[in-house]
Amino acid sequence: MLTIEKILLDYAQSQQGTEHFPVVGWLIKSDKKNVTQQSWHLQVSRDEAFTRIVHDTGCRQSEQSQNIHLTGIELDHSHRYYVRVNISDNEGESSGWSLPGVFITGLPADKWQAAFISGEAPEDKDTSKGTLLRKAFPLERAAEIDSVFVHASALGLYKLYCNGRKVGNDELTPGWTSYHHHLLYQTYDLTPFINNGNNVIAASLGAGWYKGDMSFNRYRHYYGDRTAFICQMVINYKDGHQEVLVSDDQWCASDSPVLFSEIYDGEIYDAQREQAGWNTAGFDDSPWRPVSLIDANKAVLCPQGSATVQQIETIAPVAVVTTPQGDTVVDFGQNLTGWVSFSVKGHAGDKVVLRHFEVLDADGNVYLDNLRTAKQRIEYTLQGGKEEHYQPNFTFQGFRYVKVESWPGTFDIHCLMAVVVHSQMQPTSDFACSNPDLNQLHHNILWGLKGNFVDVPTDCPQRDERLGWTGDAQIFCRTASYLMQTRNFFAKWLTDLRYDQTAEGGVPHVVPDILTNRCDEDRFLANGNTHSAAAWADAAVINPWTMYLMYGDTATLRNQYASMKGWINFMRNHSVNNHWRYKLQFGDWVALDAKEGSYFGATPNELTCMAYYAWSTLLFSKAAKVLGNEADYQEYFALYESIVHSFQQEFFTPTGRLAARTQTAHILALYFNLVPEAFRERTVNTLLELLAEHDGHLVTGFVGTPYFCHALSQNGHAKEAWQLLLKDDFPSWLYQVKAGATTIWEHWDGIKPDGSMWSPDMNSFNHYAYGAIGEWLYRAAAGIDTDESAPGFKHIRIKPIIGGGLEWLNARYHSLYGDIKVGWKVAPADNGLSHVTMDVEIPANTQATVTLLDVDSVMADDGVNFDINNHVFSGVTGSGHYHFEYLTFNPL
Ligand code: BGC
Repeated sequence: MLTIEKILLDYAQSQQGTEHFPVVGWLIKSDKKNVTQQSWHLQVSRDEAFTRIVHDTGCRQSEQSQNIHLTGIELDHSHRYYVRVNISDNEGESSGWSLPGVFITGLPADKWQAAFISGEAPEDKDTSKGTLLRKAFPLERAAEIDSVFVHASALGLYKLYCNGRKVGNDELTPGWTSYHHHLLYQTYDLTPFINNGNNVIAASLGAGWYKGDMSFNRYRHYYGDRTAFICQMVINYKDGHQEVLVSDDQWCASDSPVLFSEIYDGEIYDAQREQAGWNTAGFDDSPWRPVSLIDANKAVLCPQGSATVQQIETIAPVAVVTTPQGDTVVDFGQNLTGWVSFSVKGHAGDKVVLRHFEVLDADGNVYLDNLRTAKQRIEYTLQGGKEEHYQPNFTFQGFRYVKVESWPGTFDIHCLMAVVVHSQMQPTSDFACSNPDLNQLHHNILWGLKGNFVDVPTDCPQRDERLGWTGDAQIFCRTASYLMQTRNFFAKWLTDLRYDQTAEGGVPHVVPDILTNRCDEDRFLANGNTHSAAAWADAAVINPWTMYLMYGDTATLRNQYASMKGWINFMRNHSVNNHWRYKLQFGDWVALDAKEGSYFGATPNELTCMAYYAWSTLLFSKAAKVLGNEADYQEYFALYESIVHSFQQEFFTPTGRLAARTQTAHILALYFNLVPEAFRERTVNTLLELLAEHDGHLVTGFVGTPYFCHALSQNGHAKEAWQLLLKDDFPSWLYQVKAGATTIWEHWDGIKPDGSMWSPDMNSFNHYAYGAIGEWLYRAAAGIDTDESAPGFKHIRIKPIIGGGLEWLNARYHSLYGDIKVGWKVAPADNGLSHVTMDVEIPANTQATVTLLDVDSVMADDGVNFDINNHVFSGVTGSGHYHFEYLTFNPL
C-alpha cells in the first residue's frame, strides 16, 4: 500500500507563524520494493475539509517529494492553512489524499499596530526582577468567532497567559537572536482560550539574554536596559470581519513574585507576592501602574514557526546522598540542561534553596568551582499552609546534581524532578552495538546536543558562558544533524551569524555576538579580537553546506550565500599569496600537544588558517554551482585550486614531508584533500607514526579531533580508526565513559586519572565539541551517508566499515525521506574469514549504492547486482529491505 506518512512544512510537521508559503515535502510509505514517485498533486485550503481551497497545483509528473518551493500563493496573515497531497508511484498505485499538514500565518511587518510596552521604570535598569502586564477585554460576539491568533514577542523573556492559562508550550521565548536586527515573535492559536464576555490577556516578563548579566566578562544590557512586551491579537469572525487587540498604553503593570531571574545566576521567587487571579478576568488591577511605551524597531520582527525551546522530558532523581562535608545532594544520574520543578509544603516565609552543579570532587563533595561566577541558584519563599509547586521562569541550569541548601522540614526525594529543556527538534537516530562503552559514548554525545541546543548552539550550559561559539557549532553540526532534525535550529542561528558579521565579512567568535565592544579587559579578546578565527568563522560556510548535504536544503544556502561569500572574501582580503591571518586565532584549541597550561595546540595557525580557507572556498564554490551562479563557481573554484597549490608549496617539502609534525596537521591535510597524491602514503604513514608515539592515543584539539577517524578510515586504515575510537585509557573518548561521564567533557583530562581536575578556569563537563566523533559512528561505522549530487539522502551511500571487534551494530537515521537502517552482525567463519550478515532498509523514493568492503565471497545478495573491484562489491538498490550475507577477510 502506498501512503503519505507525514507532510513537512519548512522541514517541520507544522509551522506556527510563517510569512511565506513553506517549503513542502512529504514522506512516502510503501510495502513494496523499488518504489519511486511518478506524480504529485497538492492542495492548500483554509479548512480541514478542503472545501475552501486556495491553491491547487493539479497533477505534476515529478519524482520530487522534498524541498518543493511553490511560488505565487497569496496568503492572508493570521490564518490557518491546510496542505494535502496525493501521489502516484511507478507501480501505478495512488496514495489518496494525505492527512493535512497545518500552518498558521504570521504578521508581516507592515501589519504590526501593537507597541512595545514595559512595566519597568528607567530606575529598574540594574535589576533583573520580573514584571506582570495585563489587559482585560470584553468580547460580545464570541459565538461568531472563527479563530483567534496572537503574535507575541519581547525585549527580554516573556510568558503569555490568557484567562488564567499559559498559552503554548514554549519556554524562554522569544529566544536569543541578534535582537536589533532579528527579533522573533511566536504565534499561538487563542481560539480555545476565549470566553464570551470578559477576557484577559497577560504576560510575565524577565531579563533574559536581552538585559541580564552576560558573558564571562559579566556586563549587563548588551541589547537594552528595560524589558518590554509586544503582542497583537487578531480575531477572525466567521463573516470575514477582523478585529485586532494590541499591546498599548491601556495595559497595566505590576511587579511579579520573581524578585530576580537571570540566565547564569538562577531565580529568586517569593510566592508570598503572588497575586491570585492576576491573569484572569474579575481581578482588581486598580492598584497596578500604567505601562510605558518603549520605542523599539518593529521592522525586525520575524516569525519563529518551529524549533522553539520547550520542556522535552523529565528525569526523576536516582539518589540522595549526604556528602563527607555534610551537604544533602540529589543525583539525577544524568548531566542535563533545564531546571528542577518541585512540590513543597511548609510555613509562610520558609525557604527552598537549591544549587545546581555537574560533578562531585574526588572526595565526593559538592564541586562548584567550574561554574566560575554562575550561581545556578534557586531560592523559593513559601506562601505556606498548602502544597506549593514551582519551577523557574526565566533561567536554566546545567547540572547533574542539586545541593539542597534549604528545605522546610524533612527533605523528600520524591518532591523533585529535573525538567530537560531544549529546542524542539525531531530525534532522527538510534545507535546500538555490542560494545556497551560505545553505546554510552553515543548516549553522551546525544546528551551533549540536548544540553546545548537551547535556542542557540552553546559551548556549554552551566558556567558564565553558554555562548554560541561558532567553532563548536561548526565541528558538531554534522553529528547533530544525524541525531536530530536541526535544519530550522541552524537556519535561525545562521541568520544571526549573517546579521552579526562585520561589514568586511568577518565572522564573530560567538553568535549572537555579545563580545564585540565588551572585551577591553579580556586577556585574549581585547582590541577587537572578537571575530574571524579559522575553524570558528568557517561555520559561516560549513553549516549552511551541511544543511544542504543533510536535507537538500537550498533555501539556507540562498539565504546565507552573501554571508558565505563575505567570509571567503574576508580571508582573501587578509591574505598574501593565500596566507591569511587575522588577530586572534584559537588554532587546535585545547589540544593535548599544547604547552603546559596553555589552551593553544601545537599545530601552527598558518596551517590551520590555510587549510580551512581551502576547504571553505571549495564548499562555497560548490554552493555557487548548486545555486546556478556559474561565474562565482568559476572564480572561487580557481581560488580554491590556488590555495591548495600554495598549501602544498608551503607545507610539503619536495620529498613529501608535511612540515608541521602534529596529528592535527596531518588530519587536516588528509581530510581536506590538501595532500599531493604522490605524498598521500607518506602523510598517512606519518599520521600513524604520530599516533604510535602516543601509544595509539590522540592529542588533538577542536580542529583535529572531529576528522581523526575519517582521515584514517578514508585512507586504508579502518582498523586504526577503530582502535583509536575504542581506546579507553587517557586520553580518549572512552576514558570519559569509563570515568562515569554522561555527557561529553570539554577537556580530555577534565578529571585526570588521579582524580584531580583540570583548572576550574575552563572545565565544562557538558561540551559537545568532542562529540563530533558521532558523525563517524553514523557515516563510517554504520556507513549511512548522503551523496552531494543528490543531497538530503535522495541518493544514499551505504558503506559500513565493519570492525572494532564488534559482534553487531544497528543504526537508524530518519532522513526526510524516511528511515534508513543498517544492521550488521559478524561471526568467525572457517579459514580465518568472518561471516557478515547485513540488513539494510532504504526509504521509498530514494536509491542507495550499497558497498561491501573486503569481500571474499557473497552468499546472499537479495537480487542486487554487484560490481566487483578488488574485493569491493558495489551495487545500486531502490527502496525496501535488503538482506546480505558474505564472507570477509577483514579481521574482527
Ligand atoms: C569555549 C569554547 C570556545 C572557546 C574559543 C571557550 O571558552 O568554551 O568551547 O570555542 O572558548 O576558544
